[in-house]
Amino acid sequence: MVKILILGTGSMATNHAAAFKAAPNSSVVAAVEPDADRRAAFGKQFGIENLFPDLESAIAWGGFDAAANVTPDAVHYPTTMRLLEAGKHVFCEKPLATNYPLALEMAETAEAKGVINMVNFTYRNSPALQKARELVASGAIGEIRHFEASYLQSWLVGKQWGDWRTESRWLWRLSEEHGSKGVLGDVGVHIVDFASFAADSNVATVESRLKTFHKAPGDKIGDYPLDANDSAVMTAEFANGALGTITATRFATGHANDLSLALFGTAGALEVKTDGRASSLRICTGEKDIDGQIWKDVETPPVATTYERFVIACNTGVNGDPDFRRAADIQRILDLCFAQDKARTLTAAAPAVEG
Ligand SMILES: NC(=O)c1ccc[n+]([C@@H]2O[C@H](COP(=O)([O-])OP(=O)(O)OC[C@H]3O[C@@H](n4cnc5c(N)ncnc54)[C@H](O)[C@@H]3O)[C@@H](O)[C@H]2O)c1
Repeated sequence: MVKILILGTGSMATNHAAAFKAAPNSSVVAAVEPDADRRAAFGKQFGIENLFPDLESAIAWGGFDAAANVTPDAVHYPTTMRLLEAGKHVFCEKPLATNYPLALEMAETAEAKGVINMVNFTYRNSPALQKARELVASGAIGEIRHFEASYLQSWLVGKQWGDWRTESRWLWRLSEEHGSKGVLGDVGVHIVDFASFAADSNVATVESRLKTFHKAPGDKIGDYPLDANDSAVMTAEFANGALGTITATRFATGHANDLSLALFGTAGALEVKTDGRASSLRICTGEKDIDGQIWKDVETPPVATTYERFVIACNTGVNGDPDFRRAADIQRILDLCFAQDKARTLTAAAPAVEG
């Protein structure tokens, strides 16, 4: 039975607490949260009695084996390093850190300590994604030549998740000063993992453009400069030679949270879709279907969630996937995208029109 501490009790922490409470052989024994009201409400909601205002008090108490790190992105590195130093297993939210060197240090430290280290790439929980990877590995679509991957959100346009102008959980995501790497760091990490996991091949080369749109007077709200990217576009090549695009945006009006991936191969094609709740997979394969562009739905058996796999890893002592090393590899791609965007020179497609 693994005893889990939840670090940070904001919006995503409720998913962690519910999932770890439901998983066999795990119990949520404690939570850490600096905001007193949030801490008390979370304790009440999930029946957690050991509540701490900071990580040091929880470590001094010591009654836990593992921590789920659900703090804002910039807080992952210092708190995870402290947990690793204390010999705890860590399940960390994405992105693992705010840059590749820090993410790599986290992976190397966790490996040297021999503790379980996993990252919450939630969309690995999609049965359709897992089945797609299996089909690719079995050769069902031949060699992949081209792909299209997108992660579409619209919380900068619609109020389906509240008003971003007034809530800290959205404002920190828009601000580099608050440790955000923009849409690229927030959900770009998911779609890079999603696409390369399904294709069973890592990103080998990448070119990228990032864009931050004007959203408020002075591009600032309260303490939050609104300088983090809102839309990201990558042209990528996988190690298997396939060429394609990976995009992410918070301006996809009409889409709350939609991930899509199409893999086009020499013997067939696959399309994976998920909104985080349900997922679907279809295939076009075989001469007749390829000639007629006929797609067939594929059945996708349920899969264990990242939460369940973390618990199994802690209880068996065998690390699970995706681990910190995988998350660091994805973070390396992000760093390359920032460098690419900074170094780019744009060629105007048409002369500017005057008057
Ligand atoms: N995997 C997914 O699908 C997914 C979905 C949403 C969010 N996330 C990730 O989860 C993390 C949290 O996001 P959120 O939306 O819950 O943010 P949030 O702002 O709602 O919650 C973060 C909480 O952490 C607390 N916190 C800050 N510093 C702390 C510290 N040092 N120790 C303990 N608690 C601290 C804050 O007070 C806040 O309550 C982020 O890294 C985000 O990227 C992942």
